[in-house]
Amino acid sequence: MHNLKEHGVQIVVSCLLFMGFLYVIFLNPGFRSIPMFRGQGCSYLSKTSSEREHVDLLGGVLAETAMENRTLIIAMVNKAYVEGDKPMLDVFLNSFWLGENTRDLVNHLLIVTVDRTSYERCRFLRLHCYKLETDGVNFNGEKLYMSADFIKMMWRRTLFLGDVLRRGYNFIFTDTDVLWLRNPFERLSSDESTDIQISTDNFNGYQWSEANPINTGFYIIRSNNKTISLFDTWYGMKDNSTGQKEQDVLNHMVREGVFRKLSLRVRFLDTTYFSGFCEDSRDIGAVTTVHANCCKTIRAKIADLKDVIRAWKRFRSSSTFNDTSILRKLNHVACRNSWKH
Ligand SMILES: *[C@@H]1O[C@H](CO)[C@@H](O)[C@H](O)[C@H]1NC(C)=O
Ligand SMILES: *[C@@H]1O[C@H](CO)[C@@H](O)[C@H](O)[C@H]1NC(C)=O
Ligand SMILES: *[C@@H]1O[C@H](CO)[C@@H](O)[C@H](O)[C@H]1NC(C)=O
Ligand SMILES: *[C@@H]1O[C@H](CO)[C@@H](O)[C@H](O)[C@H]1NC(C)=O
Repeated sequence: MHNLKEHGVQIVVSCLLFMGFLYVIFLNPGFRSIPMFRGQGCSYLSKTSSEREHVDLLGGVLAETAMENRTLIIAMVNKAYVEGDKPMLDVFLNSFWLGENTRDLVNHLLIVTVDRTSYERCRFLRLHCYKLETDGVNFNGEKLYMSADFIKMMWRRTLFLGDVLRRGYNFIFTDTDVLWLRNPFERLSSDESTDIQISTDNFNGYQWSEANPINTGFYIIRSNNKTISLFDTWYGMKDNSTGQKEQDVLNHMVREGVFRKLSLRVRFLDTTYFSGFCEDSRDIGAVTTVHANCCKTIRAKIADLKDVIRAWKRFRSSSTFNDTSILRKLNHVACRNSWKH
């Protein structure tokens, strides 16, 4: 506090001095051409916190990324997702290139980065990037499933996404271990009364059944009071849910009836279209996304997603390809082995 006050006094004093200079400059036209004195002032007095700058930065980046209807796609990466021979982020982006009607969607994709390397990589790829600031947490390196840092990062993500909703943006949140093989907007309901459409690890056949086990790696959410309340409630559980990741907490909240309590209309997505390694789509002719869920390490995810890409390329390049259930025949060996210690 003391330091802050002293700093404040210094600022005021230097501003007064600066105003003195301005006075001189205005009396003496010769000074005006000195570049040092252009475009400066005591504006830093009004910008007391660097936080406000970040907030404004976020507003700008959301506006430039979103579609006309204030909808965008959000993914989050750290260093471990941008490094290596075949970084996960590259695999993810490649799916937009190989997918059906997905290339233009990259224009509406916001990459949220949590460290410097991933931010620089994002900028290098000429994507929409936002650097998420976190106090005193080092999010470098691979966060192994359920490690303390993994859980911390997931909660930071929940807080951030709640901010995006509060700013009035709808979004698809996607993990980067999700391949976008077709344009999901064509498969998702655009009915305004549906607040959330969320992927499932296993689909029980009923799209309105809360018994479906949700997966927070892919969902679309509308910004409204109900969804904002949900994120507030969800994040509010952070300190009461030691050792649980946010997805488990949300799953628990669903069991406790949070969707009904907030009058949220939530649709659970069929794995035929929004597929994953937990339960593979039975139809490559209909599949929209493929998530490397039920898998522990990035390396294993990348290895097994490669098989999906290979199958997708074969399907796309051959008009006589009739093995529609091919995704069910991929064994995801690397992912299955990733759980062994
Ligand atoms: C926003 O517009 C896109 C493109 O027209 C459409 O596909 C999408 O369904 C819309 N999103 C929402 C949430 O209405
Ligand atoms: C959301 O809440 C705010 C403040 O409580 C209220 O002014 C607004 O009308 C609400 N919007 C909707 C869509 O319910
Ligand atoms: C936090 O956990 C305790 C013990 O499980 C429970 O009694 C309490 O209701 C929880 N608080 C919230 C806000 O859910
Ligand atoms: C798929 O095509 C092969 C030959 O290209 C054919 O032998 C097979 O019966 C076909 N299977 C189905 C399910 O149509």
